[in-house]
Formats: sequence, C-alpha cells, structure tokens
Amino acid sequence: MNRASPPLLEANSLGKRFPGVVALDDVDLQLYDAEVLAVIGENGAGKSTLMKILAGIQLPDQGQIRLSGKETVIRSVEQATANGICLIHQELNLCENLSVAANIFLGREPRRFGLIDERRCLEKAGEVLQQVGLNLPPQELVGSLTIGQQQMVEIAKAISTDARMVIMDEPTSSLSQKESESLFEIIHRLKQQGVSIIYISHRLGEVERLADRVTVLRDGKNAGELARDEISHNAMVERMVGRELSNYYSRTVTESDETVLKISNLRTSANPHCPLSCEIKRGEIVGIAGLVGAGRTELLTTLFGVTPAIDGQITVTGKACVIDNSETAIRHGIGLVPEDRKLQGIVLEMSIRANTSLPTLKSLSAMGFIDAAAERALAESMKQRLNTKAPHIEQPVKFLSGGNQQKVVIAKWLAMKPNILLMDEPTRGVDVGAKQEIYRLMDELAQTGVAILFVSSDMEEVLGMADRILVMHEGQIGGELHKTNFSEESVMHLATGGAIKTETKIA
Ligand SMILES: Nc1ncnc2c1ncn2[C@@H]1O[C@H](COP(=O)(O)OP(=O)(O)OP(=O)(O)O)[C@@H](O)[C@H]1O
Ligand SMILES: [Mg+2]
Repeated sequence: MNRASPPLLEANSLGKRFPGVVALDDVDLQLYDAEVLAVIGENGAGKSTLMKILAGIQLPDQGQIRLSGKETVIRSVEQATANGICLIHQELNLCENLSVAANIFLGREPRRFGLIDERRCLEKAGEVLQQVGLNLPPQELVGSLTIGQQQMVEIAKAISTDARMVIMDEPTSSLSQKESESLFEIIHRLKQQGVSIIYISHRLGEVERLADRVTVLRDGKNAGELARDEISHNAMVERMVGRELSNYYSRTVTESDETVLKISNLRTSANPHCPLSCEIKRGEIVGIAGLVGAGRTELLTTLFGVTPAIDGQITVTGKACVIDNSETAIRHGIGLVPEDRKLQGIVLEMSIRANTSLPTLKSLSAMGFIDAAAERALAESMKQRLNTKAPHIEQPVKFLSGGNQQKVVIAKWLAMKPNILLMDEPTRGVDVGAKQEIYRLMDELAQTGVAILFVSSDMEEVLGMADRILVMHEGQIGGELHKTNFSEESVMHLATGGAIKTETKIA
C-alpha cells in the first residue's frame, strides 16, 4: 500500500437518493494500491449503491470521484472498465442461454477479420477458468451450472478484463467452502499482482481474514474505519449496528413426541439411488449439513414438490401425501425459503405487500375478493417484525437491498403459519443484526409447534440453531448428530463420508 501518492480511487461526499430513500449521504471512500478494502454495513446501508456508482452503473446526485488524483465522472460501465474498474454483482448477471465462454467475453469477443473468433474465445475462456480453478468445458451453457459455479464464472470474467480495481459484492454468499477457499487464493494472488480489491461481505470472519482495512457504512453514512490491527468481530459489529450483540443464538427447546414430517425411502430425481428416511417432531429445528452437491437442496425442493419424488413416502401429521407441486405442498402446510430467492422466492416486480401475502391469499379472501385492509395489516406487521428496510409496503421488491429481499421471502412464510418450514440457507446475505432476528423467529416458530428443516453451509449457524443435525454426503443421510454430540469436527467427519463414530451414535 503506497500512501504517499494520491489514492488509486477516492470518492468524496457522494450522495444518492431514491424516492423515499437516502441511499448515500455524504460518503467518502479511499482505495489504495494493492490493498483489500472491506466495506461492511447492515442490509440497506448503501454498500451496493456505492459500488454501482464506482462501476458506472448509476450516477451520484452529488460528490466527486478521483482516480489517481484526477477528477473523473464515471458515466458508463465501459468507461469504468476502461479506467480499470470491474464490479462483480451481488445478484448474478449472466445470460443463462449462452455458454460460459460467451458470457466471459460478452461484448468484447476476440475477433478475426471482424468476426467473432470462436476458437480463440474458447481457448481464452479455458485459461481464465483454469485460473479460478473451475473445471468446466467453456462451451457449457451457464444455465446448467450451480449458483456457486456461476459466481466463479463472474469472477473469471472480472479477471479477464485485467482490471486494476475489482469490486466483489458478497462474492461468497453462494459459494461452497471449497470454492470460497479458491476465491481467497485468487484475491491473494491479485493483490500480489498489484490489483486492489473492494470486498463486501456479511461474513465477518472472512473480513477479518482478508481485509487490510475496513470501511463501515450505516444508514447511508460513513460510520468508521478500521485499520488492519483494529479489525475484530466486535469492533465491526459495534460500528455497523451501533451496539453489541449478545445471545446470538437463542433456542428454547420444547420437546414433543408428535411426528410432523416423516419421510420413508424417499428418492429424489437428483439422487435416485439414495433412499432417504427421517422424521421431524413438532417444534423441532433440524439442520441439514453437508458439502455443496450432497443433495441437501434437492431434498428440500422435493419435499416442496418443485421436483417431485421418484419413489417413497411423505407423511405429514400422520397422513400420507403425494406432493407433486408446490401448491399441494402449501396445502399440506409446507413452506420453503429457497436457496435462489430470485428464481423461486419472490416476484421482483411485485410489492412487499403482494409478495408477503402470496401463500396466504386464500385465507385473506372472501368470495373471490382480497380483504385489502387485512392484507396491508399483515404486510405491515411482517415488515416491522423483521425490520425490513423500505419506505413503505407498496415498494416493489426489486428496489430493496439483497438482505431485505430475503426478509420478504421469510415474511411470506411466517405469514402462512406453516406446519413445516423448509429453509435453504435462510440467512444468506443477511446482516448480523437481522440474522439474530431470523434466529429468534425460527426459535419462536418452533415454540409454537412449527417443525423447521433448514440447510446451511454456515457451520456456526447449524451448530447454534439446530436441535439435531442430519449430515448428508453424496445424496445420502450419512449420519445424525444430537445436541450433546455437536461439534464442527463430527459434522465435517460425516460430511466427507466418514462413518459415525461410536461415541456420536445415539440409541
Ligand atoms: N433502484 C432503487 N430504487 C429505490 N430504492 C433503492 C434502489 N436501489 C437501492 N435502493 C435503496 O437504497 C438503500 C441502499 O441499498 P443498497 O442495495 O445499496 O444496500 P446494501 O448495503 O447493499 O444492502 P445489502 O447488504 O442488503 O445488500 C436501500 O434502502 C434500498 O432499498
Ligand atoms: Mg448489497
């Protein structure tokens, strides 16, 4: 880091308003040579807005940007790219019907005699894919990749532009542990090559590990800066939230003998050779751990009828049911907070109100008419409970920050009062304060008798919230851990195909 010369990038007094929202208010930011600058803050604090301004996607209402001391107005993505700035979006931005190679070089394809040079394109794509450790043929369609792989393609794309400043907006939120590790290596390598990185994450452990400096935003304003030796979990939380968070995981177990969900020899279309069996009691919170690709999401989507089971039985509160679409699942009182909220969780064009009431519309309607007042009251109460940041409930969900969109997904299932709530990575992209709020809600729901089955790659979260952990490995439930035997080692042991040790077995 060279502080003698002017910063590589300097933003002064940036301001940005949206109808009803001050997203940025007088914000300053400096980025120096070859440093990793983390930008943290609660959901809706203004992080993504700031990055979109730096990357030429939005113009600020006020303020200046200087690049190596020279005042510059960044009016377009092309101009940002020409100035060496590249943004990897929080919400993925790839074309699903194009190949990996076409996505990487979209708009700047290698050409020969004026035509796109397909061979060269594939060759160069292969090289950058290798750099990010993604073992995929470059001709593969992006639509057939997992979200984690798509994220790595975005990263490969950024690297291929030879940017001097790479902005990563929550890059690890959909990566597996292994993919995250290779991203950290890439960041390290980029830094060594003199590239500066702005890193946004709600995972404070990662920030502690990677950042040379931290800039904190709160409610659209600067809320402090931490130098390398000042970075700690508590210091970050305090500046972000304005208070310390205690009792992070709250769980009051209420035991019940009543089985709410029973699956016997269930075979999912993803892993047809692995029959799955388990039971969940009323008021129980069961965590599903395992590596990405272990079949966790597929178990949830099968129970919700998105990808119907090939064989086996599902019994809900003692009744055998056939769940072959999500409507049947909802009718049986099953809700799903999906992994990919943009695809299955919310309707982006619709308001917070309309999204919240989606699964409950029937009970809110009489003779074909929706009780508008009841619908509004429901959406209002959910917005308050989850502390969703938006000017009002009529705001289209597409204008909310990533974490606040997740809160709307959770709100709609809370409103339905399900028997069984399936949650796939429930706190992805959610800030520390709201995470605690979601954990409290999970506990509250369980206390009212809801059975919760949740998938999470966040080990702390699984150990903190689950009463029981099912560990999946290669499509099978490789083992089960009870609270008294919880440990990170035993989860990892089972997740990587280890057998149940005798001491972790419970009769
Ligand atoms: N296009 C838009 N129209 C209206 N409001 C917007 C728009 N874009 C952002 N906002 C609002 O500006 C505020 C800042 O949003 P931003 O996406 O920058 O937050 P963030 O810090 O990235 O949050 P998260 O951690 O949840 O991603 C939020 O209140 C958001 O709802
Ligand atoms: Mg954001």
